[in-house]
Amino acid sequence: MPFTRAAWIWFNGRLVPAAEANTHVAAHALHYGTGVFEGIRCYSTDRGPAVFRLPEHWDRFFASAAVYGLEIPYTREQLTTATAQLILRNGFSYCYIRPLCFAGAGLLGIRSQNPSETAILAWPQVAHVGGEAAEKGIRATISRWRKFDASIMPPTAKASGQYLNSLLAERDASARGFDEALLLNAQGDLAEAAVANIFLVQGGRLRTNDTSASALGGITQASIVAIAQAEGLAVEIGRLRLADLETADEVFLTGTASEILPVREVDGRAIGAGGRGPITTRLQRLFAQAVRGQDPRFAHWLSYVQSEPGGAKPEMNLAETAR
Ligand SMILES: Cc1ncc(COP(=O)(O)O)c(C=O)c1O
Repeated sequence: MPFTRAAWIWFNGRLVPAAEANTHVAAHALHYGTGVFEGIRCYSTDRGPAVFRLPEHWDRFFASAAVYGLEIPYTREQLTTATAQLILRNGFSYCYIRPLCFAGAGLLGIRSQNPSETAILAWPQVAHVGGEAAEKGIRATISRWRKFDASIMPPTAKASGQYLNSLLAERDASARGFDEALLLNAQGDLAEAAVANIFLVQGGRLRTNDTSASALGGITQASIVAIAQAEGLAVEIGRLRLADLETADEVFLTGTASEILPVREVDGRAIGAGGRGPITTRLQRLFAQAVRGQDPRFAHWLSYVQSEPGGAKPEMNLAETAR
């Protein structure tokens, strides 16, 4: 996603022109990966831009920061207001939002606890895997890189340095001509894709795993589970064995950037009929309605960005959200 189309970035408490959102090369995060981030989406709706599941993203942001002792010197309310300001100032009706908190400059030793810096970036969304992938499905490979488990680093934290694992898997998959990498965990079960969770459809049942499989607790994953359950589909959360791919009728990935991405083939072997399956298609449609405020059952997932008449302080109508 080239960062070319956003004029403004929120950085350490204020909106600054994009070219001015800079940090020092001595920043601890550049040396040791001590940053935490989120990927959030804002969708265009009949009532203007709306951010999807913002409180849940803040929960994970603060939880990731706590793991690495990073202090985010803003409240959720301040970050929410900042996000609204950023969207409005950039004039976006929809966008991808990237909050980032990282250890800044100070001492260089790995043990040092430098003051943190906080940024929120936004740019017009470009799909993680572009083009016709959402319709035709992607070709995935089982990565030779395994997903680290909780005895190495907590897979539930969305921390910058941890993404070198995803990067190796993605680059390897791409060098071998695949669209996506599926990572096995230390037990040899399916963990997740490089930046997305995995679902299988088997005999009409929806199956996914959880954080005990060394997967990130995906907010899209949780949303799909909720939507499927509301539709009366059987959902099973548990181990996904590698061999389950052989008998899966459908496989799809979920993530903020990917949304719902059908997998049509794994290492040259077709999944089901080798295209997007009917349950994947149905869930894509339901998810697309939910994120655009067209399904009242999930209206509480959206925070609408509002600017007060007269151009006063922008805010989100978090009162309308569940929490
Ligand atoms: C490693 C990993 N797994 C899963 C996901 C999907 O999570 P979410 O649906 O919250 O975007 C992501 C994306 O954030 C990710 O980076």
